Amino acid sequence: MRKELIALLVIVAVVACSSSRNADNSIPVASFQQDVTSELALLMRTMAAHADSVKAALARDGKLPPKPAIKTLFTATPTQGMHIDPITYPTFGKDYLAKLDALYKAPKAERPQAYNALVQSCANCHGTHCPGPLMRIRKMYVAVEE
Ligand code: HEC
Repeated sequence: MRKELIALLVIVAVVACSSSRNADNSIPVASFQQDVTSELALLMRTMAAHADSVKAALARDGKLPPKPAIKTLFTATPTQGMHIDPITYPTFGKDYLAKLDALYKAPKAERPQAYNALVQSCANCHGTHCPGPLMRIRKMYVAVEE
């Protein structure tokens, strides 16, 4: 049982953010003693699920899901050891919130572009914080007719 649990924790750690940190397979033992999912990671899952549902809505009828209240982007506790840059993180975070507002204000015909701008704001922050999800984020864009 313990072995399976540790294997699961290793998988979770690798799938989440730490792809670069774990590249040399030297996962610090201490990382097993913390809660697996931080407040910030949980919030990110909500943000990612929301973006996925917007993408699905655009493919369907363009009717957006309810706008999520993202209240704790600047206060949620990150995974232990995760560096949150005091300058770039708030800048990228405000940009995400601005793109979220813009999406809900955009006329229907412009929602695909507004959605792509939202996904770009995810990618921008993940370029400097937590690169693990970047592959997934790059697949979230929608094709836009010029
Ligand atoms: C302002 C910076 C920032 C923005 C904007 C941002 N992220 Fe994140 N994201 C992070 C950080 C930092 C973490 C690591 C959280 C932790 O481990 O505590 C993270 C973690 C994640 C995770 C992993 C969660 C887990 O289960 O461990 C996913 C997936 C993710 N983000 C997707 C997204 C998507 C999709 C968007 C846009 C809708 C987005 N992020 C916007 C900084 C950001």
